[in-house]
Amino acid sequence: MLNTAVFVSGGGTNLQAIIDAKKRGEMPSVSLRLVIASNRHAYALERAKNEGIDALVISKRKSESPGEYGMRLIEALKENEIGLIALAGFLTILPENVIRAYDRRILNIHPSLIPAFSGKGYYGLKVHEEALKRGVKVSGATVHFVNEIPDGGEIICQKAVEVEPGDTPETLQKRIMERAEWVLFPKAIEDTAAQILKAQEAEQ
Ligand code: GAR
Repeated sequence: MLNTAVFVSGGGTNLQAIIDAKKRGEMPSVSLRLVIASNRHAYALERAKNEGIDALVISKRKSESPGEYGMRLIEALKENEIGLIALAGFLTILPENVIRAYDRRILNIHPSLIPAFSGKGYYGLKVHEEALKRGVKVSGATVHFVNEIPDGGEIICQKAVEVEPGDTPETLQKRIMERAEWVLFPKAIEDTAAQILKAQEAEQ
């Protein structure tokens, strides 16, 4: 199995979906080794604790550079022999040294059909507010590899979800989470982990 870290900042419903998929036996290539939260109030930390998954809070300090913050993250990742990272509602910009150290090994879930409503400043409810403002009839979720461009890495998979009359940002967010995010993300993590393990076996 590939040691995997899930990075979180908030409620952690995507983390919960990953935990539940793992429990159902749908993620045989993945070992949920570590949760890293960007802030100590993230409810996702409770979810990790309830499952007995090691969790760390590693917040960006005002006094440090992005590179220094990245070094602290890399240290924790190396210590835990992490081979794959899933950003599950992680709202801190990931430092470039982490992105370089984990090339094609960092996945992010974004709550729209990229390239719509993506990039700098588009996160959480804001994405759904903008989608409703623009009047789109279909939105959805995207899983992509993370590179140095916000939401700009290679797309792994997407799922469309209908916008319904009378939707609020909250109802649209909930439908996209239930029908797209919680389904897509665990599967994309498993598939990527399986591919990495297969490539590692071929090298040996
Ligand atoms: C999710 O909808 C996720 O797609 C989004 O934040 C939410 C986190 O919810 N991520 C982004 O907007 C990233 N740009 P969760 O903490 O309940 O998983």
